[in-house]
Amino acid sequence: MAGLYPREFLAIPGPTPVPDAVLEAIARHPIGHRTPDFSKMLMSVVEDLQWLGQTKNDVFVLTASGTGAMEAAIANIVSPGDVVVSLVCGNFSERWAKIAQSYGAAVERIVVEPGKPYAVDALRTRLQADKDKTIKAVTITHNETATGVINDLGTIASLVKAHGAISIVDAVTSFGACNVPIDEFGVDVLVCGSQKALMLPPGLAVIFFSERAWKANAECRSPRFYFDLKKYKKSIGEKTTPFTPNVSLVAGLQASLAMMKQEGMGPIFVRHERMKKALRAGLTAMGLELFVGEDAASPTITAIIPPHGLTVDSIRKSLKERFKIMVADGQEELKGKIFRIGHMGYVFDRDVLMVLSALEAVLTDLGHTCKPGAAVKAASSLSK
Ligand SMILES: Cc1ncc(COP(=O)(O)O)c(C=O)c1O
Repeated sequence: MAGLYPREFLAIPGPTPVPDAVLEAIARHPIGHRTPDFSKMLMSVVEDLQWLGQTKNDVFVLTASGTGAMEAAIANIVSPGDVVVSLVCGNFSERWAKIAQSYGAAVERIVVEPGKPYAVDALRTRLQADKDKTIKAVTITHNETATGVINDLGTIASLVKAHGAISIVDAVTSFGACNVPIDEFGVDVLVCGSQKALMLPPGLAVIFFSERAWKANAECRSPRFYFDLKKYKKSIGEKTTPFTPNVSLVAGLQASLAMMKQEGMGPIFVRHERMKKALRAGLTAMGLELFVGEDAASPTITAIIPPHGLTVDSIRKSLKERFKIMVADGQEELKGKIFRIGHMGYVFDRDVLMVLSALEAVLTDLGHTCKPGAAVKAASSLSK
């Protein structure tokens, strides 16, 4: 594109903005992966991921997108015929069920309507009824990106642990933005991806694996090669990876984790909570309807129902053309019914105010009536 334009701002739920220090680390010439320098880098990444996950569990960095880590989780725990309970509240939690089915599991879904959090009572009842302990694993999506719902992971994981099944958790859009104390919650397997709150481009995934998960792994009969976590475990003992890793992204991850350590875990979580509240207050002041109630509202993604008479397409197109701000459509049956704003990772109060004022401008252009400045005023009072 000729001319001078502002940098596109990614207010989608990933990929997310990447800090300069991370871009600079990625841009350096790659180093050999069988070298002491890479081993040092990898081990510092492992240590910092354990810090962020508040865990002593094993953690492996996979060269894959988040779905790769999801497949690794299933392939290393679930055997054909195993009963897997999948909690479903949207498109990404449904993905767990599909992966488990493709590995031959007998999947039982506990489904709630989109926009609502998981039915914890229904899970409790199902687990209590399983006297013979036939349920092998329960799949959980901590933060449902498709709807902007956060689920009560602590309660759910403790129910699963009390039953004895393995908890398999997608924290793709919560890890690094929300408190996910893996050991305290007793989570067995947890996955996340690089292009969300970890502030990197897409291409790396992370998987945490508990002692209980290793016991289940010893009995697992599913085929696997690239994602055979035993290979990763053996390699990490030698401070390396079984296959050629994306060394540039690992360098980027080292830089992003260093920034996160500098900000501190508590302040990171508080910032995301604050941005959620400010954004929701601003959207409401603009007369917009939020898709998710206060109780289950995600700190990283907010879904909005477009004002009557306006299409999601027109709002997204106007934000992009006029301000170079990208927001996301709904997915599958929610396509055209909601639009989603991501606010995770390298995103700050300033960005929330910017998105709100740009949204007010385009909605006004498109014919929506709202009180000028009301959104920024409402958000600003909360973003201090
Ligand atoms: C909650 C959640 N799980 C899984 C995924 C899949 O990750 P990827 O697209 O990196 O494979 C995403 C992607 O947006 C997600 O938001």
